[in-house]
Amino acid sequence: MDVAIAGAHGRIARRLTRRLVARGDTVRGLIRDPAHADDVRADGADPVLCDLERSLVTDVALAVEGADAVLFAAGAGPGSGASRKGTMDRDGALLLLEAARSARVPEYVMVSAMGAEDPPDGDDVFSVYLRAKADADRELMASELAWTVVRPGRLTDDPGAGRVRIARRVPRGDVTRDDVAALLDAVLHDHRIARRVLAVTGGDEPLAEAIDRFVSADPRDEA
Ligand SMILES: NC(=O)c1ccc[n+]([C@@H]2O[C@H](COP(=O)([O-])OP(=O)(O)OC[C@H]3O[C@@H](n4cnc5c(N)ncnc54)[C@H](OP(=O)(O)O)[C@@H]3O)[C@@H](O)[C@H]2O)c1
Repeated sequence: MDVAIAGAHGRIARRLTRRLVARGDTVRGLIRDPAHADDVRADGADPVLCDLERSLVTDVALAVEGADAVLFAAGAGPGSGASRKGTMDRDGALLLLEAARSARVPEYVMVSAMGAEDPPDGDDVFSVYLRAKADADRELMASELAWTVVRPGRLTDDPGAGRVRIARRVPRGDVTRDDVAALLDAVLHDHRIARRVLAVTGGDEPLAEAIDRFVSADPRDEA
């Protein structure tokens, strides 16, 4: 399949790109910094310059046109202040949604965050971040696209264990970026999962079994 990944130089995105390319998919890596193009190319993707805080929807639509799916793995990051939670984590994700609709890309996979299911009030940056994630998730879930929202717990760079806990809501916990990339790979290729929200942390269950159990237990949100 042909996948357009927003935030392609990010740590989950690079792991995911290498997995997708290894299985024969075509990946366009949307980046904002031209200095990242060589790394993205080395991962096997085609770099496309696209700053989600500065582009017009028509430009983003051109960048994703013809893709089978878009995947949002960008983020303002932990060092950023509250205003970029709005411009990047919410509005950047929604710009990608508008572009996907305009370019008739049928599927959108969102890397959201645990806590967005019930975001706290408050002006601290983490609360603002979770509300930005929740706002973007809500609009995506109201769309006609084949959407999936993945809500990882706290991310680590430890090697993937291949064992996870997946449910609509799970208790707080850590999860490796390797395991989240493996889950996103499965989400993109397993259309049984669409129109669901998956929270994920590290756990005891092999990933494929956790997905099978989740899909049979969790009702799909109807279009
Ligand atoms: N950290 C956690 O514990 C945690 C937990 C749950 C969910 N998440 C979410 O998981 C996702 C991926 O996490 P990660 O750790 O893989 O992310 P990451 O390594 O911080 O990568 C984020 C990417 O987004 C890009 N980006 C920033 N602003 C952009 C813009 N205006 N236009 C286009 N791209 C832009 C960054 O590019 P530059 O290098 O150019 O800035 C970077 O490559 C994020 O959505 C994050 O919010 C994080």
